[in-house]
Amino acid sequence: MDIQAPRGVRDILPDESWKWAYVLNSVAKVMADFGHSEIHLPIFENTELFSRGVGETTDIVEKEMYTFTDRGSRSLTLRPEATAGMVRAALEHGMCSQNAAARLWCWGPMFRYERPQKGRYRQFFQIDAEVLGIAGPAADVDTIALSVEMFRRLALRGLRVALNSVGCPQCRPAYRDALLAYFGANRDALCETCQARLERNPLRVLDCKSASCSAVADAAPAIYDHLCPECAAHFDEVKSGLARLGLPFSLDKRLVRGLDYYTKTAYEIISGDLSQGAQNAVCGGGRYDNLAESIGGPHTPGVGFAAGIDRIVLVMEEQNCSFGKRAQTEVYIVARDDASRPTAQVLAGKLRSAGISAAYDAGDSVKYARSFKAQMKSALSARWQCIIEANGTFTLSGGGSDLTLTEGELVNYIEEHR
Ligand code: HAM
Repeated sequence: MDIQAPRGVRDILPDESWKWAYVLNSVAKVMADFGHSEIHLPIFENTELFSRGVGETTDIVEKEMYTFTDRGSRSLTLRPEATAGMVRAALEHGMCSQNAAARLWCWGPMFRYERPQKGRYRQFFQIDAEVLGIAGPAADVDTIALSVEMFRRLALRGLRVALNSVGCPQCRPAYRDALLAYFGANRDALCETCQARLERNPLRVLDCKSASCSAVADAAPAIYDHLCPECAAHFDEVKSGLARLGLPFSLDKRLVRGLDYYTKTAYEIISGDLSQGAQNAVCGGGRYDNLAESIGGPHTPGVGFAAGIDRIVLVMEEQNCSFGKRAQTEVYIVARDDASRPTAQVLAGKLRSAGISAAYDAGDSVKYARSFKAQMKSALSARWQCIIEANGTFTLSGGGSDLTLTEGELVNYIEEHR
């Protein structure tokens, strides 16, 4: 076949998809335990939502969006992330008016034109949780606690919470100036990209991964020395709240995140196990008190995170974490001769209506009406094999010794022994 999936886009095949179902089941429970309700958002939005919400100078908006014009000449974009859409939806439906908070979560595909590598795709999936309408630091602590609990229940090991504050429009200009002065004095040591974007967004130099920029950025002025009293107090509260809950974290003064909407808290959860050539951030988030206004809404503080499902499953596989038990067909019905094939079809129907999963030689082979031997081969992957005998009885095997049963006995037996 000469048509394949586009570069950076992959199929999640049945051997992996059952693991996703396990992860999402577990996540849905944690979300409910923390009071978050699920929301389904559109996969494409007006382009402006992201250019204004995520920020014109971010890599995402500058070079990673899948933007197209529809037949009505509107510019639309496949969502590169969920936060802007979540805020838009909450405002559009008045979900956080009169100071009432909205706690929402969603999951689904996001799209970014990035260079594909292990753990980095052009269509990838995120779990996203947001708390909208609360300005206080307790919501930040609750959000971080939620993400940590999510990973604890999935039994991921070796994760590190990296925490920082990126300040607010009051304190950031002075910090920006301090960074500009410092990086300006060390301009020759920066990589080409950072030299080019220095004036536009000096904070981004802080998280540049190139060795030369890293060395310079390590000794750069820290935001902590520039936070305004309100941001400093907020940051202290977040740190003491995490300590109160016994949640370990490390401060990372170079953590600035790749989206422009952040104010105050920014954090990431990094896996030690995804380091070999793979992207190692399994979760990122923070506070974005001015995002709602930047898309034309009323002032609505917010805090949240997103975690990459592809990466979570990758780490869980590398760590041999349990994905529970893969669903298995309970009964495979085998026709010993051609005359009993219609019975197989009817019996499968009866078992399925009783809530018992059943298969027979109908759609599992290109060639229908396979030999007894071939049917038995397929049947071995089921929990039980049920052979229809010529005299109308059923031989059930798979639970120790073979049993000869009538149809009624068969259903009862399976219901009692499953
Ligand atoms: P982000 O850091 O861009 O944040 O993405 C969050 C997570 O999505 C990453 O930590 C990673 O696990 C996963 N991810 C990102 N890009 C890719 C990719 N190309 N391939 C595979 N996985 C990827 C946000 O998206 C913010 N909206 C998070 C947020 C929510 N902040 C506040 N609320």
